[in-house]
Amino acid sequence: MRGTRTRLNYGNAGLESGKSNKYIGRVNKVGENIFDGFKSKNSLFLNKEILRHSYTPESLPHRDQEIQSLSYNLVEALHGQIPSNMILYGLTGQGKTATTNFVCSQLEEKGQSIGKNVSTLIVNCRQIDTQYRVLANMGNSLLQQDEIEIPFTGWPNDRVLFELSKRMDNKGGVFIIVLDEIDHLVKKAGDDILYNLTNMNSTLKNSRACVIGISNDLKFTDYLDPRVRSRLGQLDVLFKPYSAGQLQDILKNRASAGLKQGIIKEGVIELCSAIAAQEQGDARCALDLLRVSAEMAERDNSEFILQHHVRTAHNQIEADQIIPTIQSLPAQQKLVLSAILLNERFGMKNIKTGSVYDIYKQACRFNNQAPVTQRHVSGLISNLDMLGLINAKKVFKGRGGATKEINSCIPANVDPIEVLSQSDEVFEELFKKKYNHQGRL
Ligand SMILES: Nc1ncnc2c1ncn2[C@@H]1O[C@H](COP(=O)(O)OP(=O)(O)O)[C@@H](O)[C@H]1O
Ligand SMILES: [Mg+2]
Repeated sequence: MRGTRTRLNYGNAGLESGKSNKYIGRVNKVGENIFDGFKSKNSLFLNKEILRHSYTPESLPHRDQEIQSLSYNLVEALHGQIPSNMILYGLTGQGKTATTNFVCSQLEEKGQSIGKNVSTLIVNCRQIDTQYRVLANMGNSLLQQDEIEIPFTGWPNDRVLFELSKRMDNKGGVFIIVLDEIDHLVKKAGDDILYNLTNMNSTLKNSRACVIGISNDLKFTDYLDPRVRSRLGQLDVLFKPYSAGQLQDILKNRASAGLKQGIIKEGVIELCSAIAAQEQGDARCALDLLRVSAEMAERDNSEFILQHHVRTAHNQIEADQIIPTIQSLPAQQKLVLSAILLNERFGMKNIKTGSVYDIYKQACRFNNQAPVTQRHVSGLISNLDMLGLINAKKVFKGRGGATKEINSCIPANVDPIEVLSQSDEVFEELFKKKYNHQGRL
């Protein structure tokens, strides 16, 4: 087995690897440091961090209503009352995390300035994804000098919960517990944690807790026990997708602090926003596009960010998402994708499941492995469709019922055959074999 190819990752790392490519084959003269060239290079960024997702901006355009819903409820904590539990919903990149962080930090700041004991405990349940670890993380964030750290694993959950309650009571006041990306934890481990945390006020003596769950899945409550649902969802706030116009405002705001003045040419912000608006109005996608476009412009030694930098950035970001998706497919899924690509190599379009199955079976024979049933392959085709690697359109043909018409939809700058071949030498061999293609089956 050959190892998977290392690729540039523009998502967070930026273009560092791209820059270093410039030095491949370049002779560095004696006494010259290979980094000398970088030092003199004019950066287009004032502060790249401001254009990353992790940055919490000081203002959040187009989230006034959501900020108001949160603050109207959480202000109760400043009066010593328990705010209602809340669920915040919305697709990714709608500002749920940024808005909640902003409101919570303002709340803590206000609490401190007026002498009210209000604390926020924020946990990202995608990173910390078991009940035990979430409770331990919160407990340890309240660790006092004379207390022992809750171990990474090993205690019963009840003991961790008891310890957390004890530490909350020691500190006293009102706690806002924010479970970000809670849908992830609930799908993986059930809703016990929500049951336990929303029940805490019945045992806490010197403190009170309110729970805010943030979900990227709009159907999150379907996964909850009705009792938990009614306790947690006392107040729901839906974060709607940003429109292209709203994304433009967000980008302009961030760009004015993160990029040098006057370097963004006409149409750039509009193009980034239009692309992101199609991606479910995702502000994260808009920010990525602008940041990577600036990196592309820098790499071109351009003084300006132009529309073609945005297009290149878009292709690059798409490729960076699609390549790991292909590489990490299970073996059977890779075989089915290969069978579709081989059909396309024969010039086929709107491929039928039968044609895919035919090539798939031949590939299995070359591989000395038993093929799964056509029905199973049909399921694997649907999975590839869900992952966005292919389009499998259902076509109704009179009384004959429905058939699927399958076409790959991998961006043109990614060669899936190369990606598969490089991910595993078995596939490299499979693409070299001669297949018996029967045309339209
Ligand atoms: N209204 C806004 N103004 C400025 N930046 C925003 C706004 N909404 C989202 N962002 C930015 O977009 C990125 C994604 O937002 P985030 O809060 O992480 O979305 P979510 O939690 O809904 O997935 C973050 O960098 C965030 O700062
Ligand atoms: Mg988030």
